[in-house]
Amino acid sequence: MSNSPNQTANASFYNNISSLYDSMFPFEKLLKKGEKLITELKKRFMVSTLLDTGCGTGAYTVAAARCGCKATGADIAEEMLAGAKKNAESCNTAANFILSSMEALPCNLDETFDAVLCMGNTVPHIFPDEYLFSALKGCRQSLSTGGHLIITLLNYAAILKKRERIVGISKSGDYEFIRFYDFEDPYVNFNIMTINWSGQKPVSHLSSTRLFPYQYTEMKKYLHDTGFEKIELYGGTDFSKFSPDNSSHVMLIAERS
Ligand SMILES: C[S@@+](CC[C@H](N)C(=O)[O-])C[C@H]1O[C@@H](n2cnc3c(N)ncnc32)[C@H](O)[C@@H]1O
Repeated sequence: MSNSPNQTANASFYNNISSLYDSMFPFEKLLKKGEKLITELKKRFMVSTLLDTGCGTGAYTVAAARCGCKATGADIAEEMLAGAKKNAESCNTAANFILSSMEALPCNLDETFDAVLCMGNTVPHIFPDEYLFSALKGCRQSLSTGGHLIITLLNYAAILKKRERIVGISKSGDYEFIRFYDFEDPYVNFNIMTINWSGQKPVSHLSSTRLFPYQYTEMKKYLHDTGFEKIELYGGTDFSKFSPDNSSHVMLIAERS
């Protein structure tokens, strides 16, 4: 199947925010989280090769390489990939980066992987669900037999219940970031208001993208219907117990038997 209809909009959203992405979501913090996760995955499963799809600026790809894996990152946004390559270089790690959507996997990769990661709420960018099916199929084809797909996304069951619009307010240097939602059923629009305070007057810029709030029950079903087995559900990358009302995130681990 071809790429999802909103892919051009997604790529341009991330290309536009790429230079500020690591200020909004501090790279070092994500890297540490990634190293913890991959260390745990290596304890539980055989993981020596890993594909990070929707890799963004590469925190999880670099974490995998630092944990001794042969790591490949893939993304649709060229500027995010450029940031990922820079981050890998400054961490002195060897990782391979390719321009590919999740729907286009296995793309022209001529290898399969022990693990495929799809982290940081990338899945909700892919809709309608026939495109998500195609993306999950691509992930499955990219896995070796016995390999694992690891997905994290926000816990939309709780988000849709609480319907809180402000997601986060943070500052980094001269920049302030206000992240907020518009609930437009069945979608959730994700907005980032960036305010630059470096001049005499603040300068603001609004970036928005539309997401589909896939819930954990749907994700489990889609994984099952794509042929994955032994689907495990956690409350985040720390392998905590998932609570539909209280967990902020969902982590799904599914096996290609
Ligand atoms: C919220 S960021 C997460 C980045 C990274 N995984 C992390 O945890 O920091 C989502 C990323 O997914 C990418 N993306 C969006 N739709 C995609 C698709 N269909 N295929 C591959 N990547 C996609 C975006 O370009 C962006 O870099």
